[in-house]
Amino acid sequence: MKVLLVCGSPHKEGCTHTALAEVAKTLQEEGIETKEVWIGNKPVGGCTACGACSKLGKCMYDDVVNEVLAEIDTYDGFIFGTPVYYASPNGSMLGFMDRLFYAGAAKMAYKPAAAVASARRGGTTATFDAMNKYFTINNMPVVSSRYWNMVHGANNKGEDVLQDAEGLQTMRYLGRNMAWLLKCIEAGKKAGIDAPKPEETKIFTNFIR
Ligand SMILES: Cc1cc2nc3c(=O)[nH]c(=O)nc-3n(C[C@H](O)[C@H](O)[C@H](O)COP(=O)(O)O)c2cc1C
Repeated sequence: MKVLLVCGSPHKEGCTHTALAEVAKTLQEEGIETKEVWIGNKPVGGCTACGACSKLGKCMYDDVVNEVLAEIDTYDGFIFGTPVYYASPNGSMLGFMDRLFYAGAAKMAYKPAAAVASARRGGTTATFDAMNKYFTINNMPVVSSRYWNMVHGANNKGEDVLQDAEGLQTMRYLGRNMAWLLKCIEAGKKAGIDAPKPEETKIFTNFIR
């Protein structure tokens, strides 16, 4: 079993990465393979609502979103980490997630996911809420921890996060809970318990007619 960890910070080895590395280490200790993908330090654009992904099966704009989409079937679970910018996920991470989910939601449905937020001080729970909404609109079990998944750090190198003992423990609980859920899902499959089947018709009741 394999979990993808996405680092949405422009700092490859900053605070967000340091938190994700703690989750990854714990997952590996539990026998789960991990891969971290860094979205890079150039701005990642948002969704332009062109709808091309519904035909292409990938995004019109060929960047890290398509790199992840190309191997998305190989993952059993997902962790998305972001630094907090103005009390929200940063713009690049929102762009990345909008496009990844618009083009690839079906391939992530029924697979467990979690969000991780890193902030100097404030806006972590608002950020956490925003990230969790991608999972909860897509039939993805949300993995929890002993606290909301956040760490605190400001120096963009990760040393601050290494001093955040509670934050790191929260990451370890998250890793163990993710591993446990993945093993339960796998055992369920062997026992003939599959993910629920979708209803025949997907109903959309738009409010403006
Ligand atoms: C544009 C910008 C906006 C930020 N806004 C916030 C904020 O609202 N609250 C906060 O606590 N930290 C804020 N920060 C600080 C980062 O969230 C914090 O340093 C984070 O841990 C950096 O993670 P990284 O090292 O992975 O990039 C902001 C930083 C930048 C560059």
